[in-house]
Formats: sequence, C-alpha cells, structure tokens
Amino acid sequence: MNTSIPKHVLAGAEAFADYRDNQKARIDVAQEAKARQQGHQVGISRSHESAAWHVAGEAAYIDDMPELAGSLHCALGLSPVAHGRLLSLDLDALRAQPGVVAVLTAADIPGVNDCGSIIHDDPILCDGEIRYLGQPMFAVLARDRQTARRVAALARKLAKVEEAEPVLTPQQAHALGQYVVPPMQLLRETDTGGAPQAIAQAPHRLQGTWEVGGQEQFYLEGQISYAIPKEGGAMHVLCSTQHPSEMQHLVAHALGVQAHAVHVECRRMGGGFGGKESQSALFACVAAVAARKLGRPVKLRLDRDDDFMVTGRRHCFWYEYDIGYDEAGRILGAEVTMVSRAGHSADLSAPVMTRALCHFDNAYWLPNVRMRGFMGKTNTQSNTAFRGFGGPQGAIVMENILDGIARQLGKDALDVRRANFYAKDSGQCTPYGQEVDDNIIHELVEQLEARSDYRARRAQVEAFNASSPVLKRGLALTPVKFGISFNVKHFNQAGALVHVYNDGSILVNHGGTEMGQGLNTKVAQVVAHELGVAFERVRVTATDTTKVANTSATAASTGTDLNGKAAQDAARQIRERLAACLAAQHGADPASVRFVNDEVHCAGQTLGFAALVKQAYLERVQLWSDGFYATPGLSWDGAAMRGRPFFYFAYGAAVSEVVVDSLTGESKLLRADVIHDVGQSLNPAVDIGQVEGAFIQGMGWLTMEQLVWHPKTGALMTHAPSTYKIPTANDCPPVLNVQLFDGANPHDSIHRSKAVGEPPLLLPFSVFFAIRDAVAATGATGCCPPLRAPATAEAVLDAIAAVQTRL
Ligand code: MTE
Ligand code: HPA
Ligand code: MOS
Repeated sequence: MNTSIPKHVLAGAEAFADYRDNQKARIDVAQEAKARQQGHQVGISRSHESAAWHVAGEAAYIDDMPELAGSLHCALGLSPVAHGRLLSLDLDALRAQPGVVAVLTAADIPGVNDCGSIIHDDPILCDGEIRYLGQPMFAVLARDRQTARRVAALARKLAKVEEAEPVLTPQQAHALGQYVVPPMQLLRETDTGGAPQAIAQAPHRLQGTWEVGGQEQFYLEGQISYAIPKEGGAMHVLCSTQHPSEMQHLVAHALGVQAHAVHVECRRMGGGFGGKESQSALFACVAAVAARKLGRPVKLRLDRDDDFMVTGRRHCFWYEYDIGYDEAGRILGAEVTMVSRAGHSADLSAPVMTRALCHFDNAYWLPNVRMRGFMGKTNTQSNTAFRGFGGPQGAIVMENILDGIARQLGKDALDVRRANFYAKDSGQCTPYGQEVDDNIIHELVEQLEARSDYRARRAQVEAFNASSPVLKRGLALTPVKFGISFNVKHFNQAGALVHVYNDGSILVNHGGTEMGQGLNTKVAQVVAHELGVAFERVRVTATDTTKVANTSATAASTGTDLNGKAAQDAARQIRERLAACLAAQHGADPASVRFVNDEVHCAGQTLGFAALVKQAYLERVQLWSDGFYATPGLSWDGAAMRGRPFFYFAYGAAVSEVVVDSLTGESKLLRADVIHDVGQSLNPAVDIGQVEGAFIQGMGWLTMEQLVWHPKTGALMTHAPSTYKIPTANDCPPVLNVQLFDGANPHDSIHRSKAVGEPPLLLPFSVFFAIRDAVAATGATGCCPPLRAPATAEAVLDAIAAVQTRL
C-alpha cells in the first residue's frame, strides 16, 4: 500500500503471501486472473489492507498511540459479591494511597449514570444495588496503571456490602419469572390446529431438554478507551468499539452534553466478535467522566481478568422441546422454549433472542411451530452480542432435534435433514413469514456430500468402530441458513465520505469499523473498482463520528453490505462528475467515458486518472462526495414477530469427522470439508479466512470453551486463559477444505456478494454432532446420547456413561 515499506514489513507480507499461496488451491485462480485482466478490483484476492503492519507490529491499536503529557490511568474497583447492597466505601482510605490522583463514584457522573444500549437499565458505576460479582463500583485515577490497579484491588477490603442470595442460572431465573424484558412468542399455526395438535397426531414424538454454554469473545485487544478533554466541554474519545456512534451518544449522556461535543474515533480493533458492539460503553463513559472531572486525558485499559469479570459474552441457552414427526423424519409440529442467561441488564438480550427464534428453522420447513423465548435476569455479567448473535443458539437446538429423530428412526441424519429442507422455488416461508426465495441448500449440500465422499466415509467410520473398542469415530454433515440484516430495521443504513485529492490519491471514510474482518480492504476495493483505479490509490481512515454521523454498529455481518454500498454511491458521484468534465472537453457523451486500470478513456483518447483529476480540479469540479445506503425491502413487526427482517440468506454446510477416546472423553477433529456461500466474493482470500476463523471459533464454543460460575458466590471461576480454553493452531484439523459456493447473490447486494462474518460460525455444528455420533457408537444401536454443549471431555464421559448405563 505504501511505497516506502521497510524490510521487516515486507518479510511479514511475504509470510502472508505464503499463506495465500496455500489458499490458491481453494481459490479459483483462473477466474481471478480474468478479473484482474479486465481491470476489476473486486472479485480478486488481496491481503488485508493492514496485513503488513499487523505482522510487523506497526498497526497502531489504542494502547500503542503516544500518550499526551499529563495523561492519567484508570482502573475499576469491582464488587466482591454477586448480589446485595453497597453500604459504604472508604473513599478516604483509597484517596490516601500513594500515587492516587482521584477516586470517582457514581456521584461524580455529571449526566446520567447509564450506559445501556437499548433499555436504560445499565449503571456505569454501582448506584447502591449490587448486581453481579465484578460490577464496577468506583474508578481509581493514578499517574501510572500499576498504581491504579493496585488501589482498585482494595475494593474487596474497603467496600462494606450487604449480601443477598444470587440468581445465577437461566433455569433459576425462569422459575422465579425474573426476566430483563418480557418474554417473546413466535408462532406459525396452520388451519389444521396448530403445533400442539400437529404434535399429538404425529406418528412419532421426540421430547427433551438441552443446554448449550456461553462463550467469551476473547478479542486479543481488550476493552480500552482513551478520553481527551477538549475546549468548551467537548470530549475526544479513542475507543476500541464496533459502535462509535453509540459510544458518542452514551458518553454525551454521561457528561450531560450534546452529541456534537463528543468525538469518537476508532482506527481498528484487535478483534471485537460482538463484545465491543455495546459493551465498550462503560469504559468510554468512565474515561470521559474522569477526563472531564480532572481536565486531563484518561486512559482505561482493562486487564484480561477484569475484562472477563466486568463484561458479558454469548448467552448460554436452556431448551425444552416437544416434536411430532413422520416416518421420513419430517417435522410436523414443534414446540420449543428457549431460556437465555441475560445477566443483570437487558443489553442486547432481546434482539439476540429474536435472532435465536428466527433461526430455529435453520434450513428446514416447519409447518407448525410455537416458540417462546425468555431472557432470564441473573446476577452475572450482562450477556451481549457474539458472532451469530443468537442465531447459533437458535439453530443448534433444531440440529439436535433432527439428530435425535434420525437416531430414533435408525436413519442417516443427513437423510432426515434433507427430508426437512425448505423445498426449492416452493414459496415456502419461514415461521416469521419471510419467503425463502434464494434457497440453494439442496445443490450446496449435494456438492458437499460428493466432494467430502460422505457416504463412503460413513461406511468407513462404521467399519472402524466395529473393530475399535476404545477409540470411536463419528461423522456429521450440518447445513446453515443465516439471515442477513439487522433484525432492527433502522440499523440497516450507512454513510460514507470519499475524498479525491488533486494528486489523484483517494481517502475513504465510512461508518463501519475494522476489527480484523477485512471491511476496509473490501470497501477500498469497491471504491477502486468504481473509479477504475489501482487499489494502492485508496486509503481508508479511522472510523470517526465527526466524519460520518449516526452510523450503526459494525455487526450482523452487514459491514461490507452497508458501507460498501454507501462508499460505492459516493465514488460513483465523483466518477460521474469527472466523466462530465472530460466529456465536455471532447463534446462526447459522459456515459461513454470509461474508467479502468488507472486510466480514463473518452472519444478515442486515453488519459491517466491523476491527470484527469488535476484538470477537473482546475475546472473547479467537486472532488469529494458523501454516499448513503439503506437496505431495501425490509419490514418487521416486533410484537407479532412477523415480516421480512432479512435482505437475503447466506448458506453453507460442513462435514466433520472426529475421533473420540471413550476412556478419557477427549475428542479430536480429523477432517472438515466446507462449502460456504458468499455470493460473488469481493475478496476470496479474505472470505476464506473468515470462514476458517469462524469455523474454529464455533468449534471452540461447542467443544472446549466452558464458563463456570461458583454456584454459591456467583464468582466467574474461568476468567483467564489458564482456566478458559480457546482453540489454538493445534486444534485446527489436519485437513480443513474450505470452498466457496459458486453463485451470485440473486438480491442486489454490493457486487452480488454476501455477508460472511457470522454465518460460518454455525458450520462446526458438524463437529459437535460428529462427536455425538462417536459417543453413540459406544452404546446400543439407536441410542441417543444426552450430550450437552460444550462437548468437553467431561461432557463426553457423562454422555458415554449415560448410554452405557442404559445398555
Ligand atoms: N473477524 C475478525 N477477524 N475479528 C472480529 O472481531 N467479528 C465478527 C466477524 N468477523 C470479527 C470477525 C462479527 S461478530 C461480525 S458481526 C462481523 O465480522 C462484522 O464485520 P462485517 O460486518 O464487516 O463482516
Ligand atoms: N446483530 C447484531 N446486532 C444487532 C442485531 C443483529 O441482528 N440486531 C440489533 N443489533
Ligand atoms: Mo457481530 S455478533 O453482530 O458483532
């Protein structure tokens, strides 16, 4: 990107090129070469816009930025109990500690003590009511971070609290009828009498309860905000956030100022995964309040343990289901109750539950269904967005049900899944009333079944198990259908600002945030393509609330869909002005002007892009433009839970084969084959990277990442990498074949691509059900192992014990 790239940076770029070479087998090299030849900037693999800087350690994260003179460091004093009242805090003792500049409490917040994203039920600092163990009660400001942390840790000693019994699990909250928002219901009942009757009349029945665990985002860069006070009560906040506009508003409320006085900026995050969609707010607000009060810049960077103790994560879910089905395994009626652990406040729990209920169908037609969703209020961290946003929790229970049906019928689970797929071109609608008008699951699964050699490997697995008493293999294929758009209509809009400087270089700003997913790379490609220029001409700058106003969170996988369209709109306006300027000179039709390969063609003549820009500048042509996009065709009635919440669906499927040690409960993924639909890819290398990353992350959720709260005290016991295990490079299977489905998005998305961020997180359902398959092989034929998720060694042993006891 830069002409003066130092040697060590180039070395990093070469390492990336190696990785890319390995990907070539999976990338359609011929197709990309053709696109390049035609001067296309989209549809071609390119490294991440910051890749060279990432590997060289030159990409600046907030904690890398030079601190201003006089900066103070902040640490939070956390509640030592899960539930009760804060009676008193010995502030004088805290303030007397050497090196302490100030200690602030809720009373020091000049505006509103709330950082809730939708419902305003989320105190920034404890207002007396203690809601969970780890809740921030006060903020210590010191000249250095170590001092601030040491003094904040005195919270345990210096806070006088009155303890109450904590409510910790979703089941407990449900039994008490204690929810963060009222329960939801999503129904589809046909004339023949609805789900209960369909179930009662069905030839077969499957009933059960089940649970899946939560998941920590484990972004590598923890939560951080750096607030710099400005003149006239204004505040500049550097914040690692997926949602700069919301941070702006919440900081403004906390300070009691108008939004125009708050400037939030984010160049990049070291990962967000949903954990910085809403929950970056508390830290932005505390840093800003302290900076205002003390008139000095304040940095608040959480240590990993505090990050675990303070912030929420993926909701764990508890389910109860009652299913009626026929001889082929087709579901005729389904009743499902889902209860999530929302934590102490609403945060995003309601839209997460909406997405869960809207993904129970996954890829399957359900003629009669009655779903209920309860968001249990518990004395734990407030759970929030995590890649998939409830979609995984909604769809996996359906997969568990279909796996169970197949075992009851003694059929291959793939056949049962297929029997339930939405029929192609049938006009069938989801339970919430959206027609599945872009259904490609049949051909996608057919291709995967063939490429992965599914049937032959099924036979091999059976043969292996017949002769292997201790090690058991398992195989599973699971499909994905994931709805793309925010399930809140007004979030589906975006803005961009494109500047063309008179040397021909281009600067892009848009409302999305970069968290490693490659959004800026794709948006730069879109702009380069629109103006027919070399990628190197385009630079994308930090997301900045003073440049593009009222942006949505970069979430719901819509970053490129929304901001790519907005940036394209801006670039197109500039191109049209340039074309008009050149056409006027030649007396030609502006529509005949061609921009390609950094050149502009008009009336048989060719001019360099930069030369045309210079001419246009002299002609006083406006060389910058804004752009806007709003996703068309969306509707949603939240009360009835009906409408068209999604612009389109993204599809995928995966086959996984595992081996389980039936004596230790350990499991290992041996091979995974994936075909994933990203429409017409804007950047196949980045998309494959997203699919691979999501696959491994989802596998971590379902197999090894386990959260444990102490059943009495409510303390999160798994609050560091020492006790919370995420997958590493060693957990990647030796064979991971990821292929992109060949097909354009039938809906008018940016260059007919599809969103990729979240949907592939559901692909490793196949890993979980392969483990369940292997566990079933330790019991009698037709047994249905009660395997919970995550399928840790302990969970696997419990399931094996259960099927063997029944034996
Ligand atoms: N990829 C990386 N490397 N880091 C991340 O934090 N977040 C995921 C996904 N992929 C994430 C990621 C989540 S939760 C979402 S919603 C999307 O990226 C958001 O970005 P997009 O909409 O631009 O795809
Ligand atoms: N995904 C992420 N964030 C959201 C959504 C969603 O579907 N809806 C509201 N906020
Ligand atoms: Mo992603 S969970 O929508 O940030």
